[in-house]
Amino acid sequence: MSTTNKLPPYFLKIYNTEQKQRMDCATPTVKLRYEIIEEFINKNKYTTIAEIGCGMGYPAVYILENCPSIKEYIAIDPGPPHKNMGEKFEKEAFAQFESGKFLNTTSQQAVKMYPDEYFDFIYMDHLFHMSNETCILVADIESWIPKMKSGGILCGHDSNYKHVREALNKVFGVTLQEIIERQNYIWWVKL
Ligand SMILES: C[S@@+](CC[C@H](N)C(=O)[O-])C[C@H]1O[C@@H](n2cnc3c(N)ncnc32)[C@H](O)[C@@H]1O
Repeated sequence: MSTTNKLPPYFLKIYNTEQKQRMDCATPTVKLRYEIIEEFINKNKYTTIAEIGCGMGYPAVYILENCPSIKEYIAIDPGPPHKNMGEKFEKEAFAQFESGKFLNTTSQQAVKMYPDEYFDFIYMDHLFHMSNETCILVADIESWIPKMKSGGILCGHDSNYKHVREALNKVFGVTLQEIIERQNYIWWVKL
């Protein structure tokens, strides 16, 4: 794991807090969500990534710093509430990576910007925040599936929330896989 030396101080503070929370718990080997993503990308040497709902962006910076195979990392977030964070994020940290591109748009605006079979890894961290209507989440997830290359991984966070879970069940059924441990509710499917 890198020392994340490109993280600016406010990112570093959050990162260190999360590391400390992990070390304080009874099972310190549990991975943080962005370490699970890091592992998926490095194991498969994925190159073209989208993170939908990148928030403040420190996981994006962490992943970029720790996954040398990445050629393009599209971080998407419309804000608010994170608009100012997004601007700060782009200037201070993300801009250091040539492969990083921040899109200040919604998932549904962003999906129209890419051709089919473009991404080999998509991380959805916006579903819980986007809507509490299952049908809206289903439509959003389904709109991204054609954008995935065969053999790629579509994954996300927050499968513990009822509306997210219902949408995932509708779209993927039994093909859905999950990593559930402490604060991690990571879902994923290989396409
Ligand atoms: C929990 S935060 C994500 C944090 C980040 N991925 C992380 O791991 O720290 C969820 C984000 O989803 C964004 N969001 C809400 N609706 C969205 C939409 N329709 N499209 C894309 N992002 C959305 C919110 O602005 C928020 O920043």
